Amino acid sequence: MIMKNETAIITGSTSGIGLNIAEKFLAAGCKVAISSRSEEKVKKTLDELSKKYKDSVIGFACDVNDPKALKKLVDKTIEKFGSVRILVANAGLNRTYGPFSKLTADRVNEDAKIIIGTNLIGTLNSISAVLPYMIQQKYGRIITLSGAGAERPMPNMTIYTASKGGIIAFSKSLAVEFSQMEGDIKINVFSPGMLKTNLGTNIKLVPNWRSEEDHKRDLEIIYKNMAGDVDSSCEKVIPYVLPDLKDNGKVFRGSSIMKMIIGGMKIQREMKRARKKAR
Ligand SMILES: NC(=O)c1ccc[n+]([C@@H]2O[C@H](COP(=O)([O-])OP(=O)(O)OC[C@H]3O[C@@H](n4cnc5c(N)ncnc54)[C@H](OP(=O)(O)O)[C@@H]3O)[C@@H](O)[C@H]2O)c1
Repeated sequence: MIMKNETAIITGSTSGIGLNIAEKFLAAGCKVAISSRSEEKVKKTLDELSKKYKDSVIGFACDVNDPKALKKLVDKTIEKFGSVRILVANAGLNRTYGPFSKLTADRVNEDAKIIIGTNLIGTLNSISAVLPYMIQQKYGRIITLSGAGAERPMPNMTIYTASKGGIIAFSKSLAVEFSQMEGDIKINVFSPGMLKTNLGTNIKLVPNWRSEEDHKRDLEIIYKNMAGDVDSSCEKVIPYVLPDLKDNGKVFRGSSIMKMIIGGMKIQREMKRARKKAR
């Protein structure tokens, strides 16, 4: 039970990566507070996890766009568990897939507020909510989530890439501030690689671009060549939340970068072939 003395908050943990990390932490003995915007999803997830992990898991609805709700989440977690030693600022979303040039000015503004608001500002809000407690206890392990386009170009997801690039810049800068502070607070960035979750499968296409049918076909090709395994990717998080951690301000990966590069080349070839065939 490598995490038996640990307490964690994981935002956006009712599905996908956040839920998988929650299960991994619980299995390692950590006490975990799960959360997402939906009361219903939190209750359902909590009911499921409590069957195995009893009162080691608690859950509250919390929108990361709302600093007051985040403060409540932190306060309730400390009330139940006595501390919060780990934050995984995982909550995130994307809305639109397709060329930026096809978006109206109003749509850009709306998408940017929601995507950058949730992914980037929501991450800042989440960290800001736990930080006073971490500073007081002179200890904390924070994980933020990188994503597509943060380090290499990712067309058709431009607003999302802006949010994830911002997370890396912010996390690396905050890491320097932490290194100059008293205590042992560290922040690192998890880059899970492409994983098949609701984030990609529920995305909406840019209007007046391509057909749903073409998009589905391309998405299958992308997942086939690039998607990693959620389980083995999320496993990589555990060493970055343990007390003996040395890294601060590092981007660590859930799946190999070579898989992404080779997958990317195969995708281009397969998509060309599929388009020819569809004509
Ligand atoms: N899947 C990938 O390939 C991939 C790759 C790299 C990085 N990531 C990042 O990994 C993180 C998790 O994504 P995922 O792939 O696991 O997607 P997912 O299955 O859609 O999970 C997203 C989670 O975030 C919650 N959420 C969304 N907006 C929220 C808000 N405003 N406040 C609180 N919770 C919110 C969702 O629940 P509610 O809707 O109930 O709020 C859900 O629990 C995201 O930051 C994403 O950018 C994903």
